[in-house]
Amino acid sequence: MAGNAIGLGNFWRFPYQLASNGGGAFMIPYFLALVLLGIPVMWVEWTTGRYGGKYGHGTIGPMFYLMARESVKPKTALIFGVIGGMLAFSVAALLSSYYYQIIGWSAAYTYYSLTGAYFGKDTVQFFLNYVADTKSVLLFWGLTMLFLGIAVGQGVSKGIERWVKVMMPVLYVFAILLVIRALTLGSPVKPEWSAVKGLEYIWKPDFQTLSENFFKISLAAAGQIFFTLSLGMGIIHNYASYLGPEDDVALSGLATVSLNEFAEVILGGSLAIPIAFAYMGPEAATKAGVGLAYMALPNVFMNMPGGQIFGAMWFLLLWFAGFTSAIATYNYLVAMLEEDIHLDRKIGTWAVFGFLFLLGLPVALDSTLAYLSELDMWVGSYFLVLLGLFDVIVAVWLFKPDNFWEELHKGAYMKVPGWYKPILVYIAPLFMLFLLGGNTWDYLKNGAFTVSEYYVTNVLGYDYTPEIVSLITRARIVILIILVLGALEAY
Ligand code: PHE
Ligand code: NA
Repeated sequence: MAGNAIGLGNFWRFPYQLASNGGGAFMIPYFLALVLLGIPVMWVEWTTGRYGGKYGHGTIGPMFYLMARESVKPKTALIFGVIGGMLAFSVAALLSSYYYQIIGWSAAYTYYSLTGAYFGKDTVQFFLNYVADTKSVLLFWGLTMLFLGIAVGQGVSKGIERWVKVMMPVLYVFAILLVIRALTLGSPVKPEWSAVKGLEYIWKPDFQTLSENFFKISLAAAGQIFFTLSLGMGIIHNYASYLGPEDDVALSGLATVSLNEFAEVILGGSLAIPIAFAYMGPEAATKAGVGLAYMALPNVFMNMPGGQIFGAMWFLLLWFAGFTSAIATYNYLVAMLEEDIHLDRKIGTWAVFGFLFLLGLPVALDSTLAYLSELDMWVGSYFLVLLGLFDVIVAVWLFKPDNFWEELHKGAYMKVPGWYKPILVYIAPLFMLFLLGGNTWDYLKNGAFTVSEYYVTNVLGYDYTPEIVSLITRARIVILIILVLGALEAY
């Protein structure tokens, strides 16, 4: 579960979301969302998954159906199953279409570190050149997909588990060393820039900026909590379904959160932003957008002894972190084909490969990254929270709070404090409703394109050209098609 949760979300997505949403303004709703949503929804998903597993199910649709039946008619319960199944399918498909790209970037940067390709160059320009170099992007993304296909096709959960047990601790150690290096960076470029300024940007609470962009920042922060903890995707449910009915979920869920948050807030938070503040300056750091980590980190490697080896090791570890997360969504789609239409695992794996290849192709071919960012905004900041809301409605409300509480504590190694019950029953769902409602209202009020325009200009730092508008429109059409496919699949 930790290998699944700890991924590029911690080292790639967290810093760029944090940097582009006001730093200290972002951290306030981030911690609120961690305590009020992250921890309770984690418990909900572990409990739901173990419950479904008891009846031989590993996907959300049947799990929601089984639980909702406790208080509504089977036909109504079916509706919840279909909505949950649709969202899980759509998230798995859409998330994979761009997440695999970022894993591909890590593969490329492993190679470029080893060969010293970016040494002595402007790292921002290097990154922009890389994403515009279609052949290389296709190569590294394609190779990554191929490895994923092979791993999933073999059903190598044992092998993966063995790798995770080695690579994850190594990742921690490497990250700690890098953090020490990053924070002792003075101001190598300009005296007024420094890594410490970056830390200040993150840790100084900024209520002013938060109140100016309240919904946008709050939803981005809650979305990041979901993304990084792998919530609202169906994959925690899926993994938990392999547990026995008396296996602990309470302490294990909390341990997953703790391991992930240390890797995110302490390690992930002390790398890309401080390094970017030291080498690129505050202005560029906060405008770097989705490429932030890949623009910032190479600066350190090219300025340290053994940087080629150290850089290659680091990006290889990132590749692994992404890989062990990506396996979960890939496997979810294959598991659906196995369970629903009894397709052979090998055939299912390569069918999903073709499907994900087609979905990922427009992302790989778009060097402006507007298409990728549009997908990441919808998935990361919207669908995950929506599925989280349904998680709670089904597993806590319809399954009934007392049943849920009892189920959560079956075989548990800890007792969840009683005050978490009202958080689960009222505060968490209201919080999610509030976030989704606020964002929808913002979205409608500002017109369909304004959210993206904001994103493209402020988060990505690009001009809002007609080409970008048409890319975004295409991304939305694909999102719609996937939602419809998801509904059909779930039905
Ligand atoms: N939690 C993962 C991360 O932080 C996100 C993820 C999980 C993405 C599974 C894809 C598949 O990177
Ligand atoms: Na994570």
